[in-house]
Amino acid sequence: MGLRKIVTVTREVEIQQLARKLGTEIFVADNPAEALDIVGTANPDLIIFDSQFTPDHIRQFLDKSLKSNNNSKNIPIIAVGNRDTDTKLSNEFIQAGACDYIRSKSDYKQLEKIVNRIKSKAKPDVPEEKIQNSFFVDDLPASVSMVGQSKAIRNTLKMIKLVAASRCNPVLIVGETGTGKELAAKAIHTLRHPDGPFIAVNCAALTANLLESELFGHVKGSFTGADREKTGLLELADNGSLLLDEISEMPLDLQAKLLRVLQEKNFRKVGGTQTITTNATIIVSSNRNLQNQIQANQFRSDLYYRLNICPVTIAPLRSPHRREDIPLLAEYFLKNSTMCPGKKGKITSLTKLAIEALLKYDWPGNVRELSNTIERAILLETTDKIGLSSIIVEPPNALFRVWGSPIDPTDSSQPSETQTSNKIKDFSLEKAERKLITRALQETGWQKTRAAALLGITRATLYAKVKQYNIEKGIYLVKETADESQSPLSPETVTTN
Ligand SMILES: Nc1ncnc2c1ncn2[C@@H]1O[C@H](COP(=O)(O)OP(=O)(O)OP(=O)(O)O)[C@@H](O)[C@H]1O
Ligand SMILES: [Mg+2]
Repeated sequence: MGLRKIVTVTREVEIQQLARKLGTEIFVADNPAEALDIVGTANPDLIIFDSQFTPDHIRQFLDKSLKSNNNSKNIPIIAVGNRDTDTKLSNEFIQAGACDYIRSKSDYKQLEKIVNRIKSKAKPDVPEEKIQNSFFVDDLPASVSMVGQSKAIRNTLKMIKLVAASRCNPVLIVGETGTGKELAAKAIHTLRHPDGPFIAVNCAALTANLLESELFGHVKGSFTGADREKTGLLELADNGSLLLDEISEMPLDLQAKLLRVLQEKNFRKVGGTQTITTNATIIVSSNRNLQNQIQANQFRSDLYYRLNICPVTIAPLRSPHRREDIPLLAEYFLKNSTMCPGKKGKITSLTKLAIEALLKYDWPGNVRELSNTIERAILLETTDKIGLSSIIVEPPNALFRVWGSPIDPTDSSQPSETQTSNKIKDFSLEKAERKLITRALQETGWQKTRAAALLGITRATLYAKVKQYNIEKGIYLVKETADESQSPLSPETVTTN
């Protein structure tokens, strides 16, 4: 048994994989600043810095950590050197505060020895069953943090592994919005091409012509504005994977061209004559039912049959076979949130009632919506446990959930728009919204981009709301009265009113 929590400060997959062999929860930081955030929240057992970091980086990391009082001084740090790391440099790492170093990222044996030494000094404070109950599905590279233990996610993982080990190309991934299709695509990619490029393109985000020249590239002068030659993503993703997200939105004539690439494994640039071959794994994902799209003449059936060889499906969170992942995901997002540095490590869990509320909701936005809801709850919570009143489902949808989902304007049993606005006034939506926005701004030190991300709105919307509600820096929230502690938008208030 290895250590429990390990933070890797690296972008190198090998080091993350190394850590995965030794720990049950791996947190990946791109740089020391991110590591500092994670350390404050996760309280890890080990930190591994990769070879791009010098002894000075480690010294600065420890200084900052001491100042922010998050106690990394007591957490062992291992520095990973490279083949050129000599004894002098190794000693400098130790002087800077690292507890040890390994000469190369492939020196697993040495790392294991150090870890055993660390473990023999550390007192075991985690019950064994807790260690076994890790967040992640098994056997995935550490860089793919796929949380889940349910039957549905295990079946998905089984398929991911089968597909990755085969030569299946293209690979189709289907699932509702926010279920983790991109994560599944990264898992397939990382298992199949650990060192190759992963490129994703959203077919709904580009016009037909742009998408075509993005995918295939173009030669100089092939159309107005093509003032230089461009390499297409199919070529760039060679020896790696190309994810075509929202494939249902690809224009029909481009679908025909894609089908040809899938069959021939080669293509030409727009306006070009030279044939280019590609061995990229083409992964396509869709949150729409492609068969319905075929019925509506929006999707080519021949392309569908070419794609649908061994589809990977991801169940929505509300599926009875996936529900058990909800508390696990909630706890994972709580432990890994870096949105409110001021609350790092202070909120330790969720109350039973809060978990019950999460389990009752049907999560139309799936894992993404759950993640946002937990971030919002962290922002709102004032105690050490996330309680029911801090669980607010997506604000724009909350009203839709009041009377069943969604409100059908033609259904007279449901409230009319005027009735709805009266209800909104009763619930004082404006007041709740103003409060939430003010809190988001305060928590993020008025960093509008982070505050907007936390609220799940765009920066432009945030600016508009700040203006609308006349929110100014320095205006602080009045302490909540007992009555207000029940959130006006929480699902419970919503159904009982
Ligand atoms: N099993 C999971 N464990 C941890 N995080 C997850 C899991 N599934 C999804 N997520 C997270 O939820 C968010 C949405 O996931 P992702 O982008 O993969 O969904 P998607 O199905 O591609 O969504 P869309 O259809 O909207 O494109 C991401 O931040 C992702 O990391
Ligand atoms: Mg996606």
